[in-house]
Amino acid sequence: MRFFRVYGRVLGLLGRDIRIAGFLAFANLIVAGLQFLDPVLFGRVVNLLSGSDKMESGVLWHQAAWLLGIWVAVGITGILSNIFVALQTERLSHKHRINSMGKYFQHVLALPLSFHGDTHSGRLIKQMLSGTDGLFATWLVFFRDQLSTILSAAILLPLTLFLNWRLALVLIALVAIFLTFTAIVVRKTETAQRRVEGLNSSLAGTAQDALANVMVVQSFTRLPAEGKLFGDIAQQVIRNQFPVLNWWALVNVMTRASSTLAVITIVVVGTWLHVNGMASVGEIVTFMGIAMLLIGKLETAASFVSSLFFKLPALEDYFAILDARSSVPEKDNARTLWAPRGEVRFEDVSFEYPNGGGPVLSDVSFDARPGTSVALVGHTGAGKSTAMSLLQRLWDPSSGRITIDGQDLRDITLDSLRSNIGMVFQESLLFNRTIRENLMVGRPDATEDEMERACRMADAHEFIIRQANGYDTMIGERGTSLSGGQRQRLAIARALLKDPPILILDEATSALDAATEARVGRALKALMAGRTTFIIAHRLSTVRDADEILVFEEGRIVEQGNFDELLAREGRFADLVQTQLSPSVHHLVAAE
Ligand SMILES: Nc1ncnc2c1ncn2[C@@H]1O[C@H](COP(=O)(O)OP(=O)(O)O)[C@@H](O)[C@H]1O
Ligand SMILES: [Mg+2]
Repeated sequence: MRFFRVYGRVLGLLGRDIRIAGFLAFANLIVAGLQFLDPVLFGRVVNLLSGSDKMESGVLWHQAAWLLGIWVAVGITGILSNIFVALQTERLSHKHRINSMGKYFQHVLALPLSFHGDTHSGRLIKQMLSGTDGLFATWLVFFRDQLSTILSAAILLPLTLFLNWRLALVLIALVAIFLTFTAIVVRKTETAQRRVEGLNSSLAGTAQDALANVMVVQSFTRLPAEGKLFGDIAQQVIRNQFPVLNWWALVNVMTRASSTLAVITIVVVGTWLHVNGMASVGEIVTFMGIAMLLIGKLETAASFVSSLFFKLPALEDYFAILDARSSVPEKDNARTLWAPRGEVRFEDVSFEYPNGGGPVLSDVSFDARPGTSVALVGHTGAGKSTAMSLLQRLWDPSSGRITIDGQDLRDITLDSLRSNIGMVFQESLLFNRTIRENLMVGRPDATEDEMERACRMADAHEFIIRQANGYDTMIGERGTSLSGGQRQRLAIARALLKDPPILILDEATSALDAATEARVGRALKALMAGRTTFIIAHRLSTVRDADEILVFEEGRIVEQGNFDELLAREGRFADLVQTQLSPSVHHLVAAE
């Protein structure tokens, strides 16, 4: 059953701490055993008292003292074991909850962009929180309560056969009926609860989506519509949740009734056995005690199982994410790319996104010599950005290969590959942290001097020190407290500080107005010096200075050469220059 598989996996996550778990299991066995001794001792006392009229008072007192002495010892040991179990369980569960969050977080961050494209970040966070909550509760309750219940039912229940096998069989039958009933309900509610959980996740996803785009929501007066969307899903949650709740309410009532029923059954059968000389009064008392104890435990077990059932989908989602694999696996013997010169080659690279939209790149081949700049031009959707994401190995080519200094990207560790490539995008993608922290992202060990130098080169130092707290100013979510040009110069400083031999500028200046672009353009020139640079741009000035221009059309390179050669050819590139590449900035820069 799915249930046990997930449950087993949850316990398996304890990993090396399974030794502590073993101790806990042992302590639990002691707890369970001692709890069983209670009714047994009680039965003995009842037997002793019911036979007291035939005994001398000295002997009676002596025997009673023995029994009571054992009873006290049992009680104290029970308390101590319970303290041990409770303390260790709490620690174990808390520790592993935090560990599991960390594991999930790191795993998700490492998953390919293809995964993140399809999955809401709100959903991912909800899955992390509710998944680890589920794990926590399962560990806690399992080791604190449920393990002793399982051990009682599995080991101690059969042992009652030695006390009085007839009464023991009655007890075992009662427990079996109880378990069967619970199992039936569990089956009934399994699928329904899964649906509820799915709806809960989309509830979180919808909320996250709306909150992330709150500006759009407000300016397009989407408030009522978004509210309705949320309300509709919430309604569905309720509609699907109610039938499940009915079943569990039934279980709740039945379990309450069942301990009374069990005691009555034992009294009735016991009395009959007693009359026929097959059970003593003490034994009946013992079995009544055991029945109440066991059914009580099974009651909590049933509510635990039900709570686990509510958590099961959350746990499954959590595990499903953990099982998601990278589409760009690293080889076991992957080499570190150490200080490459920066020669980049595409050899007959073809590529198609896995969602099956047809080929995006076809037989793309080119060679970028170290330290030169290569401009990629072409209409939107021609495949320029895709080619660059292959270079960072966000995806692997469907055929052909890409090399840096002659090494296939697939033979290089992802870390070393990406630490040798710097990116500046159209959107600067800054963290909601201080300016300093954002700069240090690419090189956490940079000194203050290095950081400042990078900022001066990127023409960013001046505006940074004018901020309220200088380099320690918080810049707001996605850097909203800065202007577009400032954000971009910060992103350029960040790339400068990382100091990679290979650089990709994907429409780095497209979102800026002409004057700002001129300033940023100077910063970019500083950044490009001495690096193999790929520029995707719509400005004539940037393209004109490139050592090599690649003209993309529908995933193919249709022309290739330097600016003057291409212009002289009067082909596709000449057309583009006429229609697309705007000359405005060129004049501005020239005029300065
Ligand atoms: N993550 C993606 N999943 C599926 N298709 C994509 C993805 N990114 C881009 N595409 C498609 O690939 C083609 C090339 O896109 P892109 O490389 O971004 O072009 P460019 O940067 O030249 O404008 C487009 O048709 C686009 O729709
Ligand atoms: Mg693009």
